[in-house]
Amino acid sequence: MNQQNPTSPRATDDDRVAVDDHVRVFDTTLRDGEQAPGFSMNRSQKIRLAHALEELGVDVIEAGFPQASPDDFAAVAQIAGELRRSTVCGLSRCLPGDIETTARALEKAKSARIHLFLSTSPLHREHKLGMSKQQVIDTAVDAVRRARALCDDVEFSAEDALRTEHDFLAEIFSAVLDAGAVTLNAPDTVGYTTPTEVAELFAWLRANVRGAERAVFSAHCHDDLGLAVANSLAAIGAGARQVECTINGIGERAGNAALEEIVMALRVRAPHYAVDTRIDARRLYPTSRLLSRLTGQALPRNKAVVGENAFAHESGIHQHGMLKHRGTYEIMRAEDVGVPPSRLVLGKHSGRHALRQRLEELGYTPDEDRLGVIFDAFKQLADRKREIHDGDLEALALGRDPDQ
Ligand code: KIV
Ligand code: ZN
Repeated sequence: MNQQNPTSPRATDDDRVAVDDHVRVFDTTLRDGEQAPGFSMNRSQKIRLAHALEELGVDVIEAGFPQASPDDFAAVAQIAGELRRSTVCGLSRCLPGDIETTARALEKAKSARIHLFLSTSPLHREHKLGMSKQQVIDTAVDAVRRARALCDDVEFSAEDALRTEHDFLAEIFSAVLDAGAVTLNAPDTVGYTTPTEVAELFAWLRANVRGAERAVFSAHCHDDLGLAVANSLAAIGAGARQVECTINGIGERAGNAALEEIVMALRVRAPHYAVDTRIDARRLYPTSRLLSRLTGQALPRNKAVVGENAFAHESGIHQHGMLKHRGTYEIMRAEDVGVPPSRLVLGKHSGRHALRQRLEELGYTPDEDRLGVIFDAFKQLADRKREIHDGDLEALALGRDPDQ
């Protein structure tokens, strides 16, 4: 693969590689993300986020698991009824009742997908399912046929794929493809794999699944070893053309692969990967902030791409370099990911108007009464601190103590 041209180190939307086989972004913030402790959302919050994800340019939005609860069903049904550009997807076990419920929840979608999953690894076959290999294949094929009778777009996920025998994985993927699945997802359910291993698996699957040329291979990586984004990128490098991820990397245990990091890695290192997503990168920061606000979970300052320090340059040497040429210490521009241009420095002399503007840029729209409360807390904080950072403002907007 090509190396990036070192004389043009910063990527902008104008530098994007023109490709037709784009990487489809499958966002599961509302399903795998939302089910993690501390990140649950009520229905109106889910609807709000779903619209933001559509604005962001996400190809497929996994809106929930309709069989899980009446509220999940209602959220998926409402999202399916309201969105018109992104495909709306519902998760389903390989059970007839689940499949029918999911199809009903998706009835009003302009573009719908049923996402079936079934464990394939020896550990899961024996201890979770109590099924033989043949039973797993038969169950998956039957489920795909049922789902295809109700929906044109069916994805099959081989849960714990990265701990499954390669030849069995190729066998079950060949069978479900034959039965009508379009997308074949190989999840690293427990975040166990490495970039080299995942790349080998995807290359092997593309060579060994019958009818592979008709399939979209998909990666779904968890972050237990902090490798979810690296593994997703390795899978893309080996031919995966769908990546499953979440805003801010939220998700089960240590989380899922972070959407914003994958998108920007593909874009900043465009010549290296030579494939791109259709994400509007300028919506990354506002969408990240919206999720923080909806869940009440602030981001670590040093979070890649969207953290408050991601574009801060404190050290004298770095600042000196930046003044001469921004590319010395900056591989992407803050505005490329939608960090607000004004970045007003707020301090004890700032007024209500500046505070409101900054809060709005961060995705908060308090009414006048609430703004008054935040403004009073802001003034008290400004007396104690020289500079007020975005994280402080978010804490105040969320009614928290910024010093905690
Ligand atoms: O991690 C996983 O295996 C999943 C599947 C349901 C795709 O989330
Ligand atoms: Zn998962």
